[in-house]
This record gives sequence, C-alpha cells and structure tokens, in this order.
Amino acid sequence: MAAPVRILGIESSCDETAAAVVVDGREVLSSIVASQIDVHSKYGGVVPELASREHLRRIVPVVREALGQAGMSLNEVSAIAVTRGPGLIGSLLVGYTYGQVLARSLGKPLVPVNHLEGHVHAVFLEAQQRSSPELPEFPAVCLIVSGGHTVLYEVVSAPGVPETNGSPPAIRCAYSRLGATRDDAAGEAYDKVAKMLGLGYPGGPVIDQLAVHGNAEAVPFTAPNMRGNVLDFSFSGIKTAVLRYIRQHPEFEAEIASREDALRAGTQRADELLPLCTARTLDLVASFQRAVVTDLVRRTRAGAERRNARSILVSGGVAANRELRETFAKEVAQSGLQVFFPSRELSTDNAAMIAAAAYPRLLAGEVATAGTAATPNLPLA
Ligand code: KG4
Ligand code: ZN
Repeated sequence: MAAPVRILGIESSCDETAAAVVVDGREVLSSIVASQIDVHSKYGGVVPELASREHLRRIVPVVREALGQAGMSLNEVSAIAVTRGPGLIGSLLVGYTYGQVLARSLGKPLVPVNHLEGHVHAVFLEAQQRSSPELPEFPAVCLIVSGGHTVLYEVVSAPGVPETNGSPPAIRCAYSRLGATRDDAAGEAYDKVAKMLGLGYPGGPVIDQLAVHGNAEAVPFTAPNMRGNVLDFSFSGIKTAVLRYIRQHPEFEAEIASREDALRAGTQRADELLPLCTARTLDLVASFQRAVVTDLVRRTRAGAERRNARSILVSGGVAANRELRETFAKEVAQSGLQVFFPSRELSTDNAAMIAAAAYPRLLAGEVATAGTAATPNLPLA
C-alpha cells in the first residue's frame, strides 16, 4: 500500500482566501474559507485592490488553520496545490506566490491548478464523501456558474489515467468548451439586480430566499437569442430589463431607499429584508430567478443532448441556488440523465476542490516549472 498523498490546497482567485488538506484526492481533512463579503458588501461587488490586500492579510493564518485542523505539520504535506487562474491577477498572485515559496522552501512539488477544473472536481469530491460513492458517468456536461463564470464544458474521461502505485485511483478528465457567457456571469446578474433593488451583497442567497414569496410568472422576460452558438449565455439583457421595470414603476423608489437604510444599519438577512419588500418586488425577484434558472437549465440540457452526455454536473456559487437544483433534478429525471451537484460548501470557492483537482496531475508528474506563473485568463480547454 502506497503512503497516502496529502495535498495542501490554496485558493485565492477572487474574494475568498481558502486552504484545505485533502488525502488521495478524496478525503477532506480540513477546508478553511475566509470570506471577504464584509469588505466588499458596501461596494455591491468585489473591489480587486481590496481583495488582494485582504488575501495578503489572511493567507498565512488560513493555511495555518487548515494544517492545524488536519493535525499536520508542513513537513507532512506531500505537495502544494495552488490556483493558477483564471481570476483577478492581484488575488491570484498572493496565493500563487505563497504556494510557490512554501513549495520551494520545503522541497515539495507545486501543482498549478485551473480554478475551473477545481469546480469540476468539487462534484467528484462531493460524490466521494458518500459511504457508497456513485460517480458521474462520462461523457458528462458541466455547467460552472458563479459570480465570475458561466461556462459549459463537455467532460470526458482522459486517456492515460496515472498509475497510482497502490493509492486510490485518480479521476482524470479532458474538457472541451461548448459555450460561455458573452457578457455578465449569472452570479454577477444576481449581484447587480440585488444592488439595484437594495437587497445587499452578495445578491444570490438573498434573491434565492425571497423568490419563494413571489409569483415567478408575474414579469415576463424574454430569453436571449444566441445567434451563432445556442450554448452561449447572456445575462446583461435581463439585468437591463430589470432596471427598466424599476424605472417604469416609481413606487419602487421609496421601498428601495428603506431597504438601503436597513442595510446601512446592519441588516443582511433575507428574513429581515422580507417585511421591507412589497409583493411587486417579490414578484420581480421571483420572475428574474425563474428566467435565469430556465435559461441555464435549457442550454445545459441542449449541450448534454448534443454530446450524448450520460450525466450533468453543476458547480460554482450559483449551484447553491434552490430553484436551480430543483429544476435540474426534475427535468433531468425525465430525460434519464444523472445530475450531480456539490454540497453548498463545495459549490462556492474553496481550496478542497483545488487539492482534489491536483491529485491526478501530481500523479502524472504535472508540476510547476520555473516558467509557470499565475494567469488571469487561463483557459481550461
Ligand atoms: O463561486 P463563487 O463563490 O465565487 C465566484 O467565483 O464568483 O460564487 C459567488 C456567486 C455570487 O455572485 C453569488 O451571488 C452567487 O454565487 N450565489 C448564488 C447563491 N449563492 C451564491 N446565486 C444564486 N443563488 C444562490 N443561492
Ligand atoms: Zn469559482
């Protein structure tokens, strides 16, 4: 039996500073996520300069906590995995440079990881947390939907799965991009609509909870017509449509102002904002969510059909959305496909998914060389 492969993962691509220890790509010993929501919430979105400053402040204690919770010292780590891209350059540089310095000073391999591959592996990691793991069958189609990304990939099992020398087998995949957003990411649309309506930041979780109180059929939104590639997405149109609707109804003004006052006074939770929302606002929020969810599900299913996929994987912050999960589960059940989501904790940015994605790459010897650097636009396929 080979010695367990203990990977310390580091993630800092956007506004979460995260570290985790994962053994053999499947057993999560620790996963620490320091969120910067408090720092960015008053701006209604991530401010890149503030994000890198916060990463600098938090990276050392977060890594220390992840090791502490795993009951391990740095010397017991087999390798360091770090997000190379895509992401904000200032944010990426903090995690990448720290990982690089740690690896060099310890004489351990550094495994650069694509953040999007991390989101795909979050699904496999989740499936492996069950006592009798049911893994997705390939080919699969994976929708990665977050504040920074909305992209659809075909995921196939890659040839040449590395020899594990007695360690548990590694899941190794290859990707081809089927479609992506041409403008805003879906999570970005949630955040911008929430900002317009005085619902705070991040918008996704609050809109998710408020939407159940509204009539999702009340405001008709037209689905974007994606000429050229029907598997592409666009969310800037719906954002503008929401703004137009707000302007057409002057009574929104006082209501939005009262919620903004409440936010300034420290209110953040959906149950506290709910009494400050009229039926018209709840209908608007529910209709917005219905339109976004319907579009995401429809295009993902079209991608799955086109590639004869056997399963659908959904990952990224918006994958935490209740209506999205329910709609996928319902529609996919009808078509005989399997659908897989990570838990809420593994859906949003974390370092366990980075350590998990690094496992097959480490076994294949794909470690950083002197020329490897943090890359803000790093492609997956
Ligand atoms: O993956 P993530 O943590 O960071 C990025 O890479 O962006 O995703 C954060 C995004 C935010 O836009 C947030 O509003 C959205 O995910 N989000 C949600 C929900 N929870 C988080 N959107 C819809 N419904 C949710 N429950
Ligand atoms: Zn992400």
